[in-house]
Amino acid sequence: MDILVFMIFVSYLLAHSFKLSIAADSLGLSQSISNNNNTLVSQNGRYELGFFTPGNSNKTYLGIWYKNIPVQKFVWVANRNNPINSTSNHALFLNSTGNLVLTQNNSFVWYTTTNQKQVHNPVAVLLDSGNLVVKNDGETNQDEYLWQSFDYPSDTLLDGMKLGRNLRNGLDWKLTSWKSPEDPSVGDVSWGLVLNNYPEYYMMKGNDKIFRLGPWNGLHFSALPEQVSNPFLNYEYVSNDDEIFFRYSIKINSVISKVVVDQTKQHRYVWNEQEHKWKIYITMPKDLCDSYGLCGPYGNCMMTQQQVCQCFNGFSPKSPQAWIASDWSQGCVRDKHLSCNRNHTNKDGFVKFQGLKVPDTTHTLLNVTMSIEECREKCLNNCSCMAYTNSNISGEGSGCVMWFGDLIDIRQFQEGGQDLYIRMFGAELDNIEEPGHRHKRNWRTAKVASAVILSCGVILVCIYFIFRNQRKTVDKQPDKSERHVDDLDLPLFDLPTISTATNGFSRNNKIGEGGFGTVYKGKLANDQEIAVKRLSSISGQGMTEFINEVKLIAKLQHRNLVKLLGCCIQGQQMLIYEYMVNGSLDSFIFDNDKSKLLDWSKRFHIICGIARGLVYLHQDSRLRIIHRDLKASNVLLDDNLNPKISDFGTARTFGGDQFEGNTKRIIGTYGYMAPEYAVDGLFSVKSDVFSFGILLLEIICGKRNRAYYHTDGTLNLVGQAWAAWKEDRALGLTDSNIDETYVVSEVLRCMHISLLCVQQNPEDRPTMASVILMLGSSEKELGEPKEPGFISKNVSSETNSITNPKGCCSSVNEVTISLLDAR
Ligand SMILES: *[C@@H]1O[C@H](CO)[C@@H](O)[C@H](O)[C@H]1NC(C)=O
Ligand SMILES: *[C@@H]1O[C@H](CO)[C@@H](O)[C@H](O)[C@H]1NC(C)=O
Ligand SMILES: *[C@@H]1O[C@H](CO)[C@@H](O)[C@H](O)[C@H]1NC(C)=O
Ligand SMILES: *[C@@H]1O[C@H](CO)[C@@H](O)[C@H](O)[C@H]1NC(C)=O
Ligand SMILES: *[C@@H]1O[C@H](CO)[C@@H](O)[C@H](O)[C@H]1NC(C)=O
Ligand SMILES: *[C@@H]1O[C@H](CO)[C@@H](O)[C@H](O)[C@H]1NC(C)=O
Ligand SMILES: *[C@@H]1O[C@H](CO)[C@@H](O)[C@H](O)[C@H]1NC(C)=O
Ligand SMILES: *[C@@H]1O[C@H](CO)[C@@H](O)[C@H](O)[C@H]1NC(C)=O
Ligand SMILES: *[C@@H]1O[C@H](CO)[C@@H](O)[C@H](O)[C@H]1NC(C)=O
Repeated sequence: MDILVFMIFVSYLLAHSFKLSIAADSLGLSQSISNNNNTLVSQNGRYELGFFTPGNSNKTYLGIWYKNIPVQKFVWVANRNNPINSTSNHALFLNSTGNLVLTQNNSFVWYTTTNQKQVHNPVAVLLDSGNLVVKNDGETNQDEYLWQSFDYPSDTLLDGMKLGRNLRNGLDWKLTSWKSPEDPSVGDVSWGLVLNNYPEYYMMKGNDKIFRLGPWNGLHFSALPEQVSNPFLNYEYVSNDDEIFFRYSIKINSVISKVVVDQTKQHRYVWNEQEHKWKIYITMPKDLCDSYGLCGPYGNCMMTQQQVCQCFNGFSPKSPQAWIASDWSQGCVRDKHLSCNRNHTNKDGFVKFQGLKVPDTTHTLLNVTMSIEECREKCLNNCSCMAYTNSNISGEGSGCVMWFGDLIDIRQFQEGGQDLYIRMFGAELDNIEEPGHRHKRNWRTAKVASAVILSCGVILVCIYFIFRNQRKTVDKQPDKSERHVDDLDLPLFDLPTISTATNGFSRNNKIGEGGFGTVYKGKLANDQEIAVKRLSSISGQGMTEFINEVKLIAKLQHRNLVKLLGCCIQGQQMLIYEYMVNGSLDSFIFDNDKSKLLDWSKRFHIICGIARGLVYLHQDSRLRIIHRDLKASNVLLDDNLNPKISDFGTARTFGGDQFEGNTKRIIGTYGYMAPEYAVDGLFSVKSDVFSFGILLLEIICGKRNRAYYHTDGTLNLVGQAWAAWKEDRALGLTDSNIDETYVVSEVLRCMHISLLCVQQNPEDRPTMASVILMLGSSEKELGEPKEPGFISKNVSSETNSITNPKGCCSSVNEVTISLLDAR
């Protein structure tokens, strides 16, 4: 974690002191707690036990909460699934056999069970840790407690609480979400230990695994290499014959922090006394690569690649088409089958991969005394053993864990991570593979594969066109699967089809006015929804040229690019795209109601997706596309709120300029344009980086960046961000709609990256490839940004004179400027 972020946390911690409580912290035999009327308070004054009614609910629960925290305060609920009717008489008391009993009108609602221990003069005490315990009076030995609430966690893990399993009595210490903020009954999401041979923690939604923390490897959980150096938390993992658990403790006593599982994720919160708010310190799953099994068997998830899923070297996508279309779930298959050592000339061996989160441990064997050499030997001699590694990486490394069957849910870390030896046919013994090499090689393989498909595609296009035109009337609704097979052909739609689909380009179907024409929503006869972009006739291109260009654009396929479905060349040139249900990003982030739908983790996901889409355009698409008009309204959101960049390739194609260079035709949008582009018409990948930086700021702040310094001296968004950054108050700029959900370190990092992107000098700006490295690592130090472009007062008068040629539109920020002569 950044020192900066840590400092911010430390600054939260000041000024928090509790008054010592005079209320009772214990309940004896003759006493009771009833009808919201009295409570127990822990001696340090931090926790309170009593009855509560969440929100507008009419149900009453017995629970424990932070006494001095007004929001999201409940940490434990006794009768989660058996609430009390508010109107009834209810009471909690301790009976002589040491059971806590909760009654409603004298019938039992909830009670505790005790073990076989001797009971004499029992008492229930709310401890300073937030643990409600029943014990014999005067007993101090924790092992002698008759009962404790820490054995029955709700959705919150507190300092010192165990998460894991008691192997003696089977108690499952796991967290389960509340159904909703007003309903504490057991929800869908749970977070606990699964006793695989090599045990590990899973986050489950119903019966589905959604996130794996990975096994404890002696130093950290496999999914959390950064855990080792945490400045404010200690982790303890214990595994013996009696119990397996982990727990954390907070190094600074005055910090109030908790881990909570809700219906989608788990968050670690830290209480900020000054702002009187919980701040999120970390969220899990934290990114796309944390999604369980995203890349399928033998797929390796890398946040730093423009396509996050990559096959391990020696493996190829099982379905290349699906893989290119970003459906990775089928994973990868071996290029060469294993021989299982029946082939004496070329035996199986192991290839070492580094920096990983180890695969799902469901089918594993563990031997903590075996050496790595014995481990290898043992694995080699069993044909179904697919990988092995040390079970404990502390020190020299020790122990042996072997995987049987397909390897799934692996990710690559930039720093830290573990070694894994994967079985391969004919592999040199324990070949060392640098992760860096692996990326490149993997990528090359994928490129060759896609090149082959692409060239087939081109030939198919020609055949398809002829074929299609012949049976146009019959084949108006190509079967989706059929289209998918020839993924890269480009259907030609005829004008009547498009006209019908868009109600004759009716005003009601109009959904936008882009840089190169008007966009209409439409619906084909097969019910597929489409977006039709009717190009304004500025390009003056011939038909062949047009089709060739469109085919190039259609080849660009990436999870974060809007997919071109085809084109229409009758009458007017039109592009047909997949329709994005959720419209564009600007309609969310700049709208006070809709922006509430995008919490921080969704925004972070969107930021990373846009970045990856841009890297693909800049680097990996063979065409080297510079977008030139990246902005919030050119980022569309699909039904799962995945971002898709639109309008890419149009600048190149219809703007009439090639690659980088100098143009007299400025295509771009005020507020997003890099200074060298707006002023001198110089564009490059770095001018896209500038626009990305602006977009990033807008996503964080929920505000538009105005183009210029205002005459009244108020700063535009970039100017504000720069000023705030220098004064260490950058968090103050965040959209208030993400106040409750943002992860401090991630927001600061994104703000930092955005300022690096909008630096005046293009050469100082990072490439998009380095941007995704920065987004993907919480550890790397980033350089200090220099002053951003476009905020100094002396913007040239020429720049100010840029106007929209049509001069028609109300909000100049909205409009893409095209066909402008810069000088
Ligand atoms: C509520 O508390 C008050 C004083 O603490 C006590 O006199 C009263 O009996 C209590 N009421 C109930 C219903 O327990
Ligand atoms: C609670 O009770 C009130 C009045 O009896 C009723 O209007 C309301 O709908 C109830 N709320 C819930 C969440 O059941
Ligand atoms: C709760 O009280 C209301 C009103 O007195 C009654 O109609 C309802 O049946 C009670 N519910 C339960 C679960 O006892
Ligand atoms: C409990 O007793 C109270 C008072 O006698 C009565 O109003 C209420 O309906 C009863 N509730 C239940 C659930 O029996
Ligand atoms: C105390 O409560 C428990 C749970 O309801 C019950 O099993 C036990 O018999 C009670 N003990 C006495 C002495 O009533
Ligand atoms: C891992 O190895 C270290 C050093 O060899 C040892 O101290 C530690 O107890 C081991 N951890 C586990 C969980 O076995
Ligand atoms: C054994 O390996 C050699 C060399 O790779 C290969 O040519 C041969 O087909 C293999 N034999 C079997 C039975 O797999
Ligand atoms: C673990 O490995 C050691 C050394 O190879 C062996 O003696 C022992 O039996 C193994 N333990 C188990 C449980 O297989
Ligand atoms: C290989 O290991 C698996 C899993 O432990 C076991 O079921 C199988 O019998 C072993 N096969 C051989 C040939 O030892």
